[in-house]
Amino acid sequence: MRIGPIDIDRPLCLAPMEDVSDPPFRRLCKEEGADLLYTEFANCEAVTRNVERECRKLYVDEAERPIGVQIYGSGEGSMERAATMASEAGADFIDINCGCWVKKIANRGDGAGLLRDLKKFEAVVRAVLRGTKLPVTVKTRLGWDKDSIVILDVVRLVQDLGVSALTVHLRTRAQGYTGCADWSWIEKIRAVCTIPFIANGDMVTPEDAKTCFDMGADGIMIGRGAIARPWVFRHMRHYLNTGEILSEPTLKERVEICLRHLAMHAEYRGVPSGVFSFRRNYAGYLKGVPHIAQLRAELMTMERVEPIVARLHRFMEEYSEMRNVPTPEQGGA
Ligand SMILES: Cc1cc2nc3c(=O)[nH]c(=O)nc-3n(C[C@H](O)[C@H](O)[C@H](O)COP(=O)(O)O)c2cc1C
Repeated sequence: MRIGPIDIDRPLCLAPMEDVSDPPFRRLCKEEGADLLYTEFANCEAVTRNVERECRKLYVDEAERPIGVQIYGSGEGSMERAATMASEAGADFIDINCGCWVKKIANRGDGAGLLRDLKKFEAVVRAVLRGTKLPVTVKTRLGWDKDSIVILDVVRLVQDLGVSALTVHLRTRAQGYTGCADWSWIEKIRAVCTIPFIANGDMVTPEDAKTCFDMGADGIMIGRGAIARPWVFRHMRHYLNTGEILSEPTLKERVEICLRHLAMHAEYRGVPSGVFSFRRNYAGYLKGVPHIAQLRAELMTMERVEPIVARLHRFMEEYSEMRNVPTPEQGGA
C-alpha cells in the first residue's frame, strides 16, 4: 500500500486516539510491530492560535516515521494553515479527521459533522491540499446515521480530489461506539475505491486482521484493541505471515511491557505527573489477573517509578508462589 513515498505491504496502523496514542505509546506500539502511526488529533483553530498543548501534538520524533499528523476542524483558512504548520513540524503526511463523533465537535460541523455537508467536506479537503505538499489522507465514518450513509460518495469525492488514502471507521456517527463495526462495508468500499483503503473498527485478534485483509482492505487500523495490548501488532503480523497464533503474553511479560510503557510515559510527561496519568493503564495490563484489588489500590498511591517497579516485581514473585501452592485436590492443606 502506498501513501506518497511510503510503501508498506498490508500495514497494521495504530489509530489516532486522543490522550492514548501519545508519543510514548506510539513508540511502544512501533516496537511491537505497528507499521504506520498517527498522532492524536489537533484542533486547527487552537493550532493556528499557537495554543501550546495542541501545537505539541504536531511534533513527531524521527523514530516514529512513517507517521501521519491528524488535524480537525471546518474553518478552511485554519485547516490550510494547520496543514502547513504540521508539514513544517515534520509530518510524513497529513490526516484529516472527518469522523469524530463527540457531540461538541460533530455538532458544530467538525469531525463527523462534515458527513452532513459534503460541500463543506470537499472545501476542507481542498484547503488542506492547498496547505501542504505532503500526501493528504482522510479518516471518516460510514455516514451521520443509518439513514444517511454517504461513504461511497465520500470515496469518489476524496479520490477525485487527490487524497492519498482513506480510512473508514465502519460505523455511523450516531452509533458512537455502540453495536458492531459493519465489516460488510469493506467489500462495498473496495469495489469503488481506487486509492488505498484502510479499514477500522473492532479489529482485535489476528484472525480479525486476516478477515479484513481478505475482504479487500489495503491496511487495517487498530485502536482500542491495542490499549494495554501493544503486542497485538506483532501477533497479527505473525499470523498473517505464518498462519500461526502466538499465545497470549504471560503475566510476567505483561508486567514487563507495562513497566516499559510506564518508564517511557514518565520520561515524556515528567514525574510525578506522568506517574499519575499512567495510573489508568494498570487495570488494562493486569486484566483478568485474580486478587489484585489490594495491588491496584497501592499502585494508585505511588508517586515515583521505582517503588512501582519494586511493587510489581514483588507481586509477580508472590503470584508465582501462590500458583505453586498445591490446591486441596492436589494434596495441599
Ligand atoms: C480514547 C479514544 C480517543 C480517540 N481519539 C481519536 C482521534 O484523536 N482521532 C481520530 O480520528 N479518532 C479517534 N478515536 C477513534 C479511533 O481512532 C478509532 O476510529 C475507533 O476507536 C475505532 O477503532 P477500534 O475499534 O479499533 O477502537 C479515538 C478513540 C478512542 C477510544
